[in-house]
Amino acid sequence: MSRLTAGVVLVTAHEAALDPDGPRGEDVGMTATSFMSVSLDPPLVMVGLREGSRMDDLLAEQPLWAVSLLSEHQRIIAGRFAMKGRVSDRLLFEDIRYDRGEVTGAPLIGGALATLECRTEQRVTAGDHTLVIGRVLNATAPGVDGGPLAYFRGRYRQLG
Ligand SMILES: Cc1cc2nc3c(=O)[nH]c(=O)nc-3n(C[C@H](O)[C@H](O)[C@H](O)COP(=O)(O)O)c2cc1C
Repeated sequence: MSRLTAGVVLVTAHEAALDPDGPRGEDVGMTATSFMSVSLDPPLVMVGLREGSRMDDLLAEQPLWAVSLLSEHQRIIAGRFAMKGRVSDRLLFEDIRYDRGEVTGAPLIGGALATLECRTEQRVTAGDHTLVIGRVLNATAPGVDGGPLAYFRGRYRQLG
């Protein structure tokens, strides 16, 4: 599968989206390539999350999340949010420009090619991953320069 070219996305969620009085309200982000469009009507997308990852645990509890399609200028962001055993999610977002999604409260990364806000419709356990299918509630495609960030044979790539 390392020979399949994949686009790189950042999946994000805000812990307090359903519980504004919750104790922590951390933003959580995870780099992913297992992201795809599923249906146009209704608009559905899917992401595969490793079972037991922080994002999988969070989305088992709350249905709101977002996806930012990363541009070729954002490999540092991709690398940062793929780190395991990180200190604190808050530090990861510290110097990153983002807006907060109106519907989900999740970070939408500035400079991304597009952003999607989603609500989980279905969760399917498949081996050691959870396939999370979400309905797209809101989408933006800002006028951003540059092409996509791709991943091929274990390395980040740009087109061309
Ligand atoms: C290019 C790339 C693509 C990745 N794609 C996925 C993915 O689709 N699903 C997933 O669960 N983890 C994926 N990962 C791994 C997660 O980013 C990583 O395990 C996570 O950020 C660490 O958090 P955790 O300690 O909670 O697992 C990918 C990592 C990289 C570098």
